[in-house]
Amino acid sequence: MKKAILDVDTGIDDALGIMLAVRSGELDVLGISTVNGNVSLETATLNTCKILDFIKAPASISVYPGASRPLLRDRLFEHRVHGEDGLGGALLDMQPADRTDPNTFGPDFIVEQAKRYPGEITLIATGPLTNVALALAKHPGLVHDIKELVVMGGAVRTHGNITPTAEYNIHVDPEAARLVFQAGFPSLTLVGLDVTRKALLTSAHIDALGSSEIAGYVRQSTSDYMERYYERNGVRACAMHDPLAVGAAIWPELVRTERLYVDVETRSELCDGQTVCDFQNRLQRQPNLDVCLDADSDAFLNRFIAVLRGGSYQ
Ligand code: BDR
Ligand code: CA
Repeated sequence: MKKAILDVDTGIDDALGIMLAVRSGELDVLGISTVNGNVSLETATLNTCKILDFIKAPASISVYPGASRPLLRDRLFEHRVHGEDGLGGALLDMQPADRTDPNTFGPDFIVEQAKRYPGEITLIATGPLTNVALALAKHPGLVHDIKELVVMGGAVRTHGNITPTAEYNIHVDPEAARLVFQAGFPSLTLVGLDVTRKALLTSAHIDALGSSEIAGYVRQSTSDYMERYYERNGVRACAMHDPLAVGAAIWPELVRTERLYVDVETRSELCDGQTVCDFQNRLQRQPNLDVCLDADSDAFLNRFIAVLRGGSYQ
């Protein structure tokens, strides 16, 4: 099993990513760090505890609160997407067991574990990259101490989802993303909107979950999201951004990547947070990221549903 750390800003799709990671049986989840993003740090932490409780995750998985704001910028919430509570109104009254470790700052947890298991950890970041940037600032050797970093973020060929050109996670903390992209990770996979927009969870998928408690949760948490997606795109669906990043870590054969140079715009009125990908090597820089350009979204969704059902995905 791959040792993994999740770094999340638990909204609707982070929650589904956590479920996939913990229930897949393919990842040994060492812990989960939380970060400001979709919701405040406090709410992201609470939501993470709720989801872990809901799926009866092993008690060994603790939650480590990290950055409560971006490195340099103000916080930016988009409550129309995930709801005020971050989970689309599901599990609203749940009072989960407190799994937080208040004595260990999220970025410190990442550094500690990377030093403890050098070359073994897959770090999966599905929120703004503030925690990862802070971990790097504390320990630049992180780039070699972890095995791989998988990031849900960016859009290299397609349009943005928070501004015309920027994807939300990168736009919220572009300085952090820039630091992380330029840090020299030998293995950094970018799972951006180019592929995550293809992984669409529909009512048919939820029906395939049967009448389990998990099915009820997924139906409720994605309901408003699907309505809004319909208004914008004419299809009732929920994009599996974060679950696909987890899926790419578990089943790399489901994504096609290309090693390319990518940088982040941080000083533009219109394009802040845009991930600029040098497809034609015009900048003559060393490629720094494995950028996902295609994904087998049907196979991914089948496996995702099978894992949530608790069955085999082969
Ligand atoms: C990303 O932004 C957040 O709203 C989602 O949780 C996902 O991580 C998609 O752009
Ligand atoms: Ca997220």
